Amino acid sequence: MTSVFIGYLQSSCISCFHSPTHCWNRKKVLYSSPFVSFRRCIPSKSSLSARKQRILATGETVIVFGGSGRLGRRVVGELVKQNYRVAAGGRNLERTKQVIQERIDVAHKSNLLEYFEWKATERTSWFQKWSPDAVKAVVAVIGASGNSLLDITQPYKIDYLGNKQLIDATKAWNPNCPFILITSLGTGKPFTGFPTALLNLYGGILYWKRKSERHLIQSGLPFTIIRPGGLERAQDDFGVNHKVRLYPADTQFSGSVSRLQVAQVIADAISNPDLSRGKIVEVTALYGAKEIPLHDQWKRIPVWVE
Ligand SMILES: NC(=O)c1ccc[n+]([C@@H]2O[C@H](COP(=O)([O-])OP(=O)(O)OC[C@H]3O[C@@H](n4cnc5c(N)ncnc54)[C@H](OP(=O)(O)O)[C@@H]3O)[C@@H](O)[C@H]2O)c1
Repeated sequence: MTSVFIGYLQSSCISCFHSPTHCWNRKKVLYSSPFVSFRRCIPSKSSLSARKQRILATGETVIVFGGSGRLGRRVVGELVKQNYRVAAGGRNLERTKQVIQERIDVAHKSNLLEYFEWKATERTSWFQKWSPDAVKAVVAVIGASGNSLLDITQPYKIDYLGNKQLIDATKAWNPNCPFILITSLGTGKPFTGFPTALLNLYGGILYWKRKSERHLIQSGLPFTIIRPGGLERAQDDFGVNHKVRLYPADTQFSGSVSRLQVAQVIADAISNPDLSRGKIVEVTALYGAKEIPLHDQWKRIPVWVE
């Protein structure tokens, strides 16, 4: 009997008391003598990440307005990669589902995804279905589309009124909910920052984006504002030769970056609120530059003072 007990002590963990047959973690020997030894489990990296994944998968939802867009669907993809639950909104439910499912291995991730139909011109009551505690962040990645270039009221209606309505609805629902707003390089100097200021020829788009930024800042919601450079030329493989750079507000007026890279910055901002909260960041990618972890780059961006 005594020898069985000593044998169990020899091989079990002093922390969880699991013998090797019950616990697959490696064990570190803390003390060893000819009669007895004490060991402690060292959870493997994979079991730690599995635990983290379970916590995330059961708890935290990110709501993405504009999830059907070319940037939005990549944001959804990056978030589910990190095992967040994601609620993705677009104007047409079926199309939203389709464009997102084309990007994501739904077989593995479908339990993390839900979709909803939403139009910027309508008041939103979407928040009522979530408990404020269960939502990690709201992302607004909507924008007047290139398909509507002839209607110059679109930037006012979507980039300003649409975002304003989302900000107001979020604040009424949970004034502590982090809100991530996507605008554009040049938004801080809509009429004097060249060449980006030329974008204003389309319905004053940078002017309206700046109004929505101001509205968010003044709302008191915890915010992060992300201003990407030009997205049209860079494909998803842009990051192979071009490394992402984060800059403080009102310093960049040209440059490109891929939608995938911006989506990664957005997901990183959500996962690291202590580094990203209260900041306006401009994002481009540099050819031939070396990779710098986003974590280090966020640290160099000052908190915005209006
Ligand atoms: N293109 C660039 O070079 C560039 C550069 C810097 C910043 N940005 C900004 O980055 C953001 C995303 O750009 P993107 O290229 O991904 O745009 P996109 O593909 O055109 O996506 C725009 C999103 O906004 C949604 N939207 C448009 N009108 C709406 C309305 N009335 N109600 C609800 N949703 C509406 C679209 O929904 P549907 O799918 O239903 O149409 C779509 O999800 C925009 O704010 C854009 O201005 C773009």
